[in-house]
Amino acid sequence: MNRIAVVPGSFDPVTLGHIDVIGRAAGIFDEIHVLVVHNPGKSALLPIAQRVTLIEQSIKDAGLPTNILVTSWSVGLLVDYCVEVEASVIVKGIRSQIDVAYETPMAIVNRNLAGVETVFLLPSPENALVSSSLVRQVAGLGGDVSPYVPSAVAAFLQAG
Ligand code: PNS
Repeated sequence: MNRIAVVPGSFDPVTLGHIDVIGRAAGIFDEIHVLVVHNPGKSALLPIAQRVTLIEQSIKDAGLPTNILVTSWSVGLLVDYCVEVEASVIVKGIRSQIDVAYETPMAIVNRNLAGVETVFLLPSPENALVSSSLVRQVAGLGGDVSPYVPSAVAAFLQAG
């Protein structure tokens, strides 16, 4: 059985924490779909297509396995995508109890909607404090984000 897992998120921009979790997921499941989803609750820094490109480049630079596809979804529920590609699992990275509280209702709703289970993975401790919102704020004020993001993202943000 080819077990497909979806790693969804805003990825605005992708961080070292995301790459950590994507790499761990790729070692557990047969196929990983990294899915960039617009989150209407957050004001965006990067266009969706740019986020996809930066994730692809970062995955390549990190030497992650080749069972990872990066794409985006904007036409409905996350579980609609899962059903379309026959993914049975959603993977989310968990940094703290705050993430557990935020993710648990979504995991239950996604299971109730379509029977898709959610698996929580822990990043390594050095990545546990990284968030895209922090990176957006530091980058927006001209600070150095290179400790928190892949080099492709740091270069892109510095150039912009
Ligand atoms: O990186 P984020 O912003 O925490 O990711 C949240 C995201 C995009 C994964 C979440 O908002 C989501 O799943 N949105 C898709 C819409 C949806 O399916 N909502 C109902 C179930 S939660």
